[in-house]
Amino acid sequence: MSFAQALKAQLDIPVIGSPLFIISNPRLVAEQCKSGIVGSFPALNARPAEVLEQWLEQLTTELAEYQSANPEKKVAPFAVNQIVHQSNDRLQHDLQMCAKYKVPIMITSLRAPHEAVEVAHSYGGKVFHDVISVRHAEKAIEAGVDGLILVCAGAGGHAGTLSPFALVSEVRKFYDGPIALSGSISRGEHILAAEAMGADFAYMGTRFIATPEANADQAYKDMIVNSSAQDVVYSNLFTGVHGNYLRGSIENAGLDPADLPVADKSTMSFGSGGSSKSKAWRDIWGAGQGVGNIDAVQPTAQVIAELKREYLAARQRLLGA
Ligand SMILES: Cc1cc2nc3c(=O)[nH]c(=O)nc-3n(C[C@H](O)[C@H](O)[C@H](O)COP(=O)(O)O)c2cc1C
Repeated sequence: MSFAQALKAQLDIPVIGSPLFIISNPRLVAEQCKSGIVGSFPALNARPAEVLEQWLEQLTTELAEYQSANPEKKVAPFAVNQIVHQSNDRLQHDLQMCAKYKVPIMITSLRAPHEAVEVAHSYGGKVFHDVISVRHAEKAIEAGVDGLILVCAGAGGHAGTLSPFALVSEVRKFYDGPIALSGSISRGEHILAAEAMGADFAYMGTRFIATPEANADQAYKDMIVNSSAQDVVYSNLFTGVHGNYLRGSIENAGLDPADLPVADKSTMSFGSGGSSKSKAWRDIWGAGQGVGNIDAVQPTAQVIAELKREYLAARQRLLGA
């Protein structure tokens, strides 16, 4: 059985809940895994660094206990996101913690993740790396990753500009390993569409911000509910890398969304000192173009139950199965 097939067999629907800076926490991740999708959080959300061990201990124990109390359920594995960048002075520590707790999946972002691959493979873990282009996909494969995440147009937070129709097929020409697809995926039928396109998993972030479990202001959750695709602005001003943000939050910060300056990429900084832009992430709210499909703040378990119903209904309608 391939890794993609083995991972799918552990899930109720082929979805990875993506890591969200500040927002993802053990509560959200536990609900995602208990509902049968991969949950994940950025290691940097656990601050200071010692908190990471507490989170890993808590999640590992809670999910194991839930599985033994509910042997019939599929309790999904969880993932930890590592930012591979020279400014991330926690990377060594965070990788070693993942090794100690044998974190099943690591999701790496930015640079090619050689070190993370070495550590994960030493204990049987797997690495997915997120990319926005064919060139980055090739570099990640060279680094030995086990799967790719294609971050396409309309994704929340740092995002690419390529259409998923274009990027998935181009990557599939040279790569037959697991692919997770992201960019505005917000309903169950989109998950089936991602599979039809050639991906194995849907990678979804914004859909989980409007939940009680997410660590986000109520005003942020309400703005997600009240926004649609046209309210999402693509800019590199806030972190040095292009990403998608809610127009309303940019206006609330006193900026003109139609006239944002261009940022300098060299100002990017991650690590124990906090992202140089972590204040920006607090005030300027990331979201993908799928916001128009989010109509209420709902518990995570309910969101996933709805995604399942929509996914199965779409399969029935299109495939009769
Ligand atoms: C508020 C916010 C914060 C994010 N933080 C991270 C992060 O810390 N690390 C990361 O790899 N991706 C991060 N992302 C990107 C997501 O993991 C994922 O690529 C994206 O949410 C998928 O698109 P969607 O939001 O349209 O579903 C973030 C996205 C958002 C909306």
